[in-house]
Amino acid sequence: MCGIVGYTGHRCACPILINGLKRLEYRGYDSAGVALINPCGEINIYKAKGKVAELECFMQNKPKEGCTGIAHTRWATHGEPNKVNAHPHYSSSERIALIHNGIIENYSPLREMLIQNGYEFKSTTDTEVLVQLIEFVRESEVCDLLTAIRVALGSVVGSYAIAIIERDNPGTIIAARKSSPLVVGVGDGEFFIASDASAIIEYTSSVTYLNDEEVAVMSLEDGLKVVNLLNQELIPAFIKLDLTLSQLEKSGYEHFMLKEIFEQPKTIFDCTRGRINVEGNNIALSGIIDNRERFLNARRIIIVACGTSWHSALIGEHILESLCRIPVEVEYASEFRYRNPVIYPDDIVIAISQSGETADTLAAVELAKSCGAFVYGICNAVGSSISRAAHSGSYIHVGPEIGVASTKAFTGQITVLIMMALALADPIRGDVVRELNKIPGKIEEILRTKDSICELANSLTDAKGFIYLGRGINYPVALEGALKLKEITYTHAEGYPAAEMKHGPIALVEEGVPVIVIATDSSVYDKVISNIQEIKARRGRVIAVVTRGDTQVVSLADSVIEVPPTIEYLNPLLSVIPLQLLAYHIAVNKGLDVDQPRNLAKSVTVE
Ligand code: G6P
Repeated sequence: MCGIVGYTGHRCACPILINGLKRLEYRGYDSAGVALINPCGEINIYKAKGKVAELECFMQNKPKEGCTGIAHTRWATHGEPNKVNAHPHYSSSERIALIHNGIIENYSPLREMLIQNGYEFKSTTDTEVLVQLIEFVRESEVCDLLTAIRVALGSVVGSYAIAIIERDNPGTIIAARKSSPLVVGVGDGEFFIASDASAIIEYTSSVTYLNDEEVAVMSLEDGLKVVNLLNQELIPAFIKLDLTLSQLEKSGYEHFMLKEIFEQPKTIFDCTRGRINVEGNNIALSGIIDNRERFLNARRIIIVACGTSWHSALIGEHILESLCRIPVEVEYASEFRYRNPVIYPDDIVIAISQSGETADTLAAVELAKSCGAFVYGICNAVGSSISRAAHSGSYIHVGPEIGVASTKAFTGQITVLIMMALALADPIRGDVVRELNKIPGKIEEILRTKDSICELANSLTDAKGFIYLGRGINYPVALEGALKLKEITYTHAEGYPAAEMKHGPIALVEEGVPVIVIATDSSVYDKVISNIQEIKARRGRVIAVVTRGDTQVVSLADSVIEVPPTIEYLNPLLSVIPLQLLAYHIAVNKGLDVDQPRNLAKSVTVE
């Protein structure tokens, strides 16, 4: 949520900042802004409501010189998304400019205090309070900028990733983080700061991630210094990023989401590579190898997650309980953290998060750790906060996911959960391992039917509401199918366990209402057929996802989408693919912004 990028060095900062903002736009796209220290030593701030393209347009004929600058793309929390509330924000004297991701929870009393001290505010943001507070400390304590920032942050409650420039320090950026991600990149005589590495990978692969309550001073004169809020100097740990530029481009696809849907055969292969063997008698998942006994002796597993990751958690619950007989509970991280849950030291808490930065999931991880539980992270973003906070874990290795609606991360998460269950099961289910090897090829088969799914989407584009039904392991797939549709087509969709439908949602069924039913070959196949009959009896329009060769559902449904046969545990990896494509094509038909749907952000770093 909110993207931050900063540069100081020998090059012109503006193109680097704008480029970085475009890469970070998935984090928020309400408004954007840039602050540059010009050669006369003044700070120029340019802001625009809307996307980065609008900022670029606004800046077309403006002076853009300067080798030090910071830039921001916003997902509004405090104050509506307009030009005034857009970042960067000046301090009163316009001497300091600041960008911020996070929430300053005690901004209201701080604002009052500053007003009493003669400060005036232009915006309604919590961020402007922070920049004014830093200036207030700088002036009242007559201290340097770093001290002012440390002292100000010491009195702030909430979360922040900030980057600051000052008129009097033209070759310096100071950045700090607490619960919101920040990465520092070092080039040849130049420094970068960003919310995530995708914004700077073009320029450097040598990076260090800041930890909570750390402040980085990037100075062309004195180099990089990292301190904590008490001004104790820390030694930053540098890593080499394993990220290529092509992973961040659309590579000929019309949208990132479509690219990511089509990448799934490869991403599942990448996720399993080196971890499963063709014979099906071994799973080499290092996080499980190292902690197998701990898992087998766990009182229970609690999985915490949000959004799509929560759906994969439900699938994980099904597989782990069924294959390993370990009790599993699945929790929305946002609910779990605030309801004083019972967590035992012999519980294992699995946190699933594509970004590894979701604020609620991160807080749930910290809560679990404080209760002595062992925390296992399943993340995509390497080096992310959750992956670093967890005791152990497995990356899903699906590459950067840029479309806001998650696709390949979902199937990657399920794949890791399946591998975890297989690694813990005794004896190992060789049939499932061998079948997992075949999943990429089977997804390719589904992707080849994209034209018929597109045609189906054409006939559904004007529908006012949808119901998605599934049972057993396909119930979370119904939830995920409905979520995809809501996220990118802005159409109401209910995901429901098929049998539960008669306790309410069936009242919504009338002639022509589209009901998408996942009716693949499974242990509950006959039950699902009964549910289909109930919809047909009320003249609903049944669109069924079936296993190739099916005859019973085919004879009942109005339309069918075939997927190849597989083992029931692996069914979600196939049945979700047509639902992703269906949502995608409906959104395209409606002319909507598929990759950046309204009101959403990919990385939700505020609670
Ligand atoms: C946002 C994204 C979703 C994602 C959810 C959880 O809402 O738009 O696609 O599923 O956050 O994100 P995480 O990174 O923790 O998986």
